[in-house]
Amino acid sequence: MQTIFSGIQPSGTITLGNYIGAMKQFVELQDDYNCHFCIVDQHAITVPQDRLALRKNIRSLAALYIAVGIDPTKSTLFIQSEVPAHTEAGWMLQCVAYIGELERMTQFKDKSAGKEAVSAGLLTYPPLMAADILLYKTDLVPVGEDQKQHLELTRDLAERFNKKYNDIFTIPEVRIPKVGARVMSLQEPTKKMSKSDPNQKAFITILDEPKVIEKKIKSAVTDSEGIVRFDKENKPGISNLMSIYSILGNVSIEEIERMYDGKGYGDFKADTAKVVVEALAPIQQRYYELIDSEELDQILDAGAEKANFVANKMLRKMRNAMGLGRKR
Ligand code: AQP
Repeated sequence: MQTIFSGIQPSGTITLGNYIGAMKQFVELQDDYNCHFCIVDQHAITVPQDRLALRKNIRSLAALYIAVGIDPTKSTLFIQSEVPAHTEAGWMLQCVAYIGELERMTQFKDKSAGKEAVSAGLLTYPPLMAADILLYKTDLVPVGEDQKQHLELTRDLAERFNKKYNDIFTIPEVRIPKVGARVMSLQEPTKKMSKSDPNQKAFITILDEPKVIEKKIKSAVTDSEGIVRFDKENKPGISNLMSIYSILGNVSIEEIERMYDGKGYGDFKADTAKVVVEALAPIQQRYYELIDSEELDQILDAGAEKANFVANKMLRKMRNAMGLGRKR
């Protein structure tokens, strides 16, 4: 069985973007792969976080992984900071990475743009992400399109390490969904939907209540043509809503165009909201059962134990390859 690793930052409640771009594929893949899913809390602190909110988001993300359908008997679910091998391996890979290539990462450029104080961690987090992936001999990394560049860096670092020290890392492949790889902001549809967007109307979280979902979709930015037609370049707002409808409602884009032929954006938006509300209802129900349960802690404890065991084995190989410590 091939191995999968993927992580999500607990930097807010996950959005439809994170769900469609990442989590939904996780659920589809878990029967056929040896899966590791991680709550990457150490990535979240590369930008300022409120400590109480962070704790809450970590637990909430764990419950959401299970609520969307991750089965802890099939997949390993764990919190990054509970597996210390990640930071040690991340440090080693920082020493393999070059500053120039880290400065070229578009996410670093986007998140640091216009800020006076930028943490060093924001620059050096891609090697930590590489460590997350490489520690588990990962074959495949299912992510949204925005993470493609970080995956390419991970492959470069693994190849550089293998060549320079010892051939210990598996070179991972990226897996990006065909539809929904980039869910866009509802307010600026040329920008991706992000959970930390300061404009609350720009994203729908997986825990938003029906009324909130209806309101956000109703106020989504579209165009003045008034025809429900898929055209990403000229009609990014409508095309984004059509993609969301198509994926969550299980209807093709062509079928949506046929269904709304001669109808206006009002009807289409109201139905899109209904599709989203219906898709999220069972996830929300399971989430509220889990959030304060002991079951959730047991799942996370078991996940941390399994992940520590696997990650420590690779960490020992890395230390030996680089000549750190004493021979063991
Ligand atoms: N808009 C998106 N469309 C499709 N996929 C997306 N992903 C993120 N946004 C979209 C995918 O979700 C997974 C988890 O992402 P992350 O939380 O680790 O970091 P991110 O990519 O930076 O996500 P956000 O929501 O934009 O978080 P913040 O606002 O904190 O930076 C990844 O697989 C990602 O591709």
